[in-house]
Amino acid sequence: MADGHHHDLHDDQARFKAMTEGTAEDWAIIANHAKGFNKGLADRVLAHLKLLDGDYGGFPIDRLTHSLQSATLAHRDGMDEEYVVCALLHDIGDTLGSYNHPDIAAAILKPFVSEANHWMVANHGIFQGYYFFHHLGLDRNLRDQFRGHPYFEHTARFCHRHDQNAFDPAYDTLPLSFFEPLVQRLFATPKNSIYLKALREEA
Ligand SMILES: [Fe+2]
Ligand SMILES: [Fe+2]
Repeated sequence: MADGHHHDLHDDQARFKAMTEGTAEDWAIIANHAKGFNKGLADRVLAHLKLLDGDYGGFPIDRLTHSLQSATLAHRDGMDEEYVVCALLHDIGDTLGSYNHPDIAAAILKPFVSEANHWMVANHGIFQGYYFFHHLGLDRNLRDQFRGHPYFEHTARFCHRHDQNAFDPAYDTLPLSFFEPLVQRLFATPKNSIYLKALREEA
């Protein structure tokens, strides 16, 4: 019973007060919780994406519709499922990363996507600048620092075909429900994480 200062521990809680006292039993309990919690990642990502709903920021369409339109363009352009989810989520960081939004999406996607798609999402802000930085007194060719990089063309193509052109209020944009199964599938199976070995189902 909680009394405001401390509470009784349940059987499914670790006993340590500092990690220096932690035992394998404690960490088995925590790892078990993580497995269950991680299953909800796709739902949490989708809930956060919905925060962009109604957020226009002066643009012709709100940021959720822009995200859906980016994913729709990618899908209709024949891009694979992983890429389409990257398009859907590329601006999810707008709510918390006002000064570095690509870093947020890149960090969320990193365990689940290829190096090329991760780099594309992480750097899309600089490449997108080609289409508007000059209107703000900035250098539209900032992306040129990456000329010759193996993922330069991949990222330039994303911005050209699936991002800078995804602001059309009249476009037949697919609804979020269309993309939800793709998001669920992508986040079901991490490829790279320092915790992976400890969190495998068979472990
Ligand atoms: Fe962006
Ligand atoms: Fe965008």
